[in-house]
Amino acid sequence: MTDMASCAAIDVVCIASWNADLVSRVTRPMARGETLMAHSFDIQPGGKGSNAAVAAARQGAKVGVIARIGDDDFGRMALSLWTRASIDTEYVEIAQNECSGVAQILVYDDGDNSIAVATGAGSGLGEANVDMACKAIRTAKVVMASNEVPQAATLAAFKIARAAGATTILNPAPAMDLPDELIALCDVLTPNESEAQTLFGRGAAAMIVTMGSQGCALYQKDKLTNPITGWAMNVVDTIGAGDTFTGALAAAIARGESLGQAAESANAAAALSVTGRGAIAAMPTLAQSKNLKNQY
Ligand code: RIB
Repeated sequence: MTDMASCAAIDVVCIASWNADLVSRVTRPMARGETLMAHSFDIQPGGKGSNAAVAAARQGAKVGVIARIGDDDFGRMALSLWTRASIDTEYVEIAQNECSGVAQILVYDDGDNSIAVATGAGSGLGEANVDMACKAIRTAKVVMASNEVPQAATLAAFKIARAAGATTILNPAPAMDLPDELIALCDVLTPNESEAQTLFGRGAAAMIVTMGSQGCALYQKDKLTNPITGWAMNVVDTIGAGDTFTGALAAAIARGESLGQAAESANAAAALSVTGRGAIAAMPTLAQSKNLKNQY
């Protein structure tokens, strides 16, 4: 770890999961015990946190990740990706003799998918990692996380962020029980429709429910305030669309947009993200997503 000279430049800190996505394309969901021949196989960058971090960086935010990766080829793939995306990697721990996270993904002909995640080294991300990055968290405008990282790390980071006045965003995916303490520390939650079911009525300050091609809906204190229409896109696959939404939302809040405006910006970015293969290939730049919004 180095000194914090560069911390002031980081707008968005992501408590980030990293997975190498092992993506097979098959016609349809598989039955239990069935073998299907895949059309293709790719290894692509993934992980809900890393995806959101890359999305925020493409939208022009200065992003730093707090992450734990393995000392393996997939870990080196993460570092290479983050470096190319100009994401700060000062707070990335390389865990010796541990494997990086992997996600086995089946993409169906209609663009939908199923995902099994083995978090690998990411499961060791904890308060110690967050403590080492506390100055970067304190000076960030937005701090974001997902349910793919250990809750203890998210709680520790959001406590620091809340005390410093940063906006906290949690993508509650994959769905799991969230303690009231964590919900109270979230300024914005970004669930999809099924993840949202257990969150209504729990006092969340703001929740933006993502609904795929139907757009999204901003709720403040459980009251619908901004329904936002979706975009008709040519869907190649939907991997990482929710992560793109969260990352683009973080970038928009960091550049000063209101929550309603930021939700519209994130909605456009997520729509564009489904037009390419894998999580990050079609994540748009700010100019690209503004161009889509201007077509409205
Ligand atoms: O949200 C999509 C992501 O979920 C994939 O990139 C995969 O790694 C899993 O984390």
